[in-house]
Amino acid sequence: MEFQNYINGTWVKGRRTFQTINPANEELVADIAQAEVSDVAAAVGAATEAFKSWRLVPAPLRGEILYKVGDILKQKKEELAQLLTRDMGKVIAEARGDVQEAIDMAYFMGGEGRRLLGYTAPVEMPNKFGMAVRDPSGVVGLITPWNFPIAVPSWKIFPALVAGNTIIWKPSPETPAISAAFVKVFEEAGLPAGVFNLLLAPGADVGKALVEHPGVRVLSFTGSTTTGRAIAESAARLNKKVSLEMGGKNAIIVMDDANLELVTDATLWAAFGTTGQRCTAASRLIVQKGIANKVKESLAERTKKLRLGDGLDPNVDVGPVINKAALERIHHYVQLGQKEGARVLVGGSIASVHPPESADSVRSSVSKSVDESVHPLQSVGKGFFYNPTLFDGVRPGSTLEAEEVFGPVLSIIEVGSLEEAIEVNNRSQYGLSTSIFTQDVNRAFTAMRDIFTGLVYINHGTTGAEIQFPFGGVRGTGNGHREAGQAALEVFTEWKSIYVDYSGKLQRAQIDNREE
Ligand code: UN1
Repeated sequence: MEFQNYINGTWVKGRRTFQTINPANEELVADIAQAEVSDVAAAVGAATEAFKSWRLVPAPLRGEILYKVGDILKQKKEELAQLLTRDMGKVIAEARGDVQEAIDMAYFMGGEGRRLLGYTAPVEMPNKFGMAVRDPSGVVGLITPWNFPIAVPSWKIFPALVAGNTIIWKPSPETPAISAAFVKVFEEAGLPAGVFNLLLAPGADVGKALVEHPGVRVLSFTGSTTTGRAIAESAARLNKKVSLEMGGKNAIIVMDDANLELVTDATLWAAFGTTGQRCTAASRLIVQKGIANKVKESLAERTKKLRLGDGLDPNVDVGPVINKAALERIHHYVQLGQKEGARVLVGGSIASVHPPESADSVRSSVSKSVDESVHPLQSVGKGFFYNPTLFDGVRPGSTLEAEEVFGPVLSIIEVGSLEEAIEVNNRSQYGLSTSIFTQDVNRAFTAMRDIFTGLVYINHGTTGAEIQFPFGGVRGTGNGHREAGQAALEVFTEWKSIYVDYSGKLQRAQIDNREE
């Protein structure tokens, strides 16, 4: 099956194709029609035309189409989840969660069709009325990553659509198959032609053309900090609104009084779930000295038992990383960490997982590989697997502590007190998600007040945000916008303040109707 671009309600074959492969076994998932830079103008043209009528469709009816999208996603959840796992590798249970997050968002934003709340306020003149309403922004460009190929786009697509915008979506070239399958659901739900356009392409050209096209009013981007900043710079020259969701260096803080078993379960999930490739993944464990040894022992024992392999195997805990370049980057950080004096407790090496004949064969190949000492990156077997890695003795301020690895690598940092833990946490250049484990209510509330990140968790890992609350980060993670929740509407709407004077005469605000 060939997956194509979707412009003005038509699936469009490219002059060229590119391929998407399964990172678990390097097999071809699909041939993909490749969009060209010239397709950007066609898509913007279609979206501009479609905007004229889509903005006038009553918002409750726009919302009903989103409900329909939610219904179809529910029916197709398993089919989509399987394709998602093949396209980017996450384990099947998490792929189902990825689709579920879009289902949740479809219904939540569908409901916004009957809210999109504005407000009225009293005005200072008699026989005059004032209100503020939300207008759609126009044509919006969405650029999204591969790690949540359905959930993260859905945080942008659903609020944009319900508010009456039209869309050009450029997903990661790592996940084109699942992206096209997602767009098909909107087509099936009856979204009018031109409202939602899809451009699939490797390289930076198409994305750049989208960012720079003067017909695109709003850009919403999730991905690396370097790319996000570059987008913001070009968008600033064209006076576009830009919402950025970028890097993270999320921490779990563990206080001496924490529940050890809970800390272990939650840390393994937050650090190694999605193979550490969530923007919310925990990559630092800031632990108080009194409990540090116990936490390390418990984590080391359980990390060694994690089963690597093809995410379609339900017995697998940790899937592959996205591609060879990611393996190289992760290993580079591991080597750097050692040079900086940190010590590998577990992992620290490429994993020799071979395509399994059975779940048992996966387990035995993994148990061999995780106990190996650190060795240089080398290709073994098919797929891109890295052993979940624990680093001890990581110094605050070191490169390993500061930079986003985006892989299954957790750095353990010891501290003496809550204040020190919060200080180490807040010193990060990023500020997305932090969690704290403590049973002391005073410490929990102090942490809630003093942790500066967009998401704070108490007695829970750093991952697992729900769609009804704002999602985003401070410092280098974002630029002040939030996704999800009603906050998402701020990105995709413009406020319009309307004054109705029914006095039949000139009434000058701030001047008439005054004694002096
Ligand atoms: C991401 O990693 O880009 O909170 C999004 C979470 C998920 C979303 C992660 N609900 O971990």
